[in-house]
Amino acid sequence: MIAPAEELAVLAADAIEALLRREPATVLGLATGSSPLKVYDELARRHEQEGLSFARARGFMLDEYVGLAADHPERYRNVIDTEIASRVDFAPGAVQGPDGLADDLPAACAAYERAIAGAGGVDVQLLGIGTDGHIAFNEPGSSLASRTRIKTLTRQTRVDNARFFDDDVDQVPTHCLTQGLGTIMDARHLVLLATGRHKAEAVHQLVEGPISAMWPATVMQMHPHATVLVDDAAASRLQ
Ligand code: F6R
Repeated sequence: MIAPAEELAVLAADAIEALLRREPATVLGLATGSSPLKVYDELARRHEQEGLSFARARGFMLDEYVGLAADHPERYRNVIDTEIASRVDFAPGAVQGPDGLADDLPAACAAYERAIAGAGGVDVQLLGIGTDGHIAFNEPGSSLASRTRIKTLTRQTRVDNARFFDDDVDQVPTHCLTQGLGTIMDARHLVLLATGRHKAEAVHQLVEGPISAMWPATVMQMHPHATVLVDDAAASRLQ
């Protein structure tokens, strides 16, 4: 699919709306970063103007930085609240993320896996892709079967994300909690968005490369229902 970012957002929002209309108690997988922002704008617009309701839906975030203060604007919990949760009618507590401030981080990861399973699993999972091929924060080398756990962010990802931290890479946390590749693969539909030439190599590997932990997104080739939405620039290395 080759189209400008707004059209990609409409397609992703269509998939989510179709689910919500069919099954209001849908479980949504929510990504942070730039890629899903237009999708969230479109969903908020449909909520406001067309009555699309999230009142019975649940949301599970992909990942969270470790150790960012509860009120830090870049804490993913706060980003998700700002970008989508507070703009629609999710019930209180319906959107959850891994707890990057927990005293016992491995226990928080295990609890998060139980919460997703307890909700019946994710129906549709929004995803972006890192320039190094990561999805969620599953950096190169991640086990294709991994579950929610602590990860060290690569220098590349911290540099990529420094734009959210006053362009100061030293302010970007060094660790995160992230759903594993196995966790993500359990979702019933994966919808990945990628725009811009800087994503072209990662998209090429995702779609056409050999399945490899060194390009973690390639695991999606084994998913029975994966949709990859790209603009011309992100598609520019596809054969
Ligand atoms: C964020 C996440 C990351 C981003 C990826 C791309 O929750 O899981 O995998 O999707 O780093 O980031 P953007 O969209 O900012 O280019």
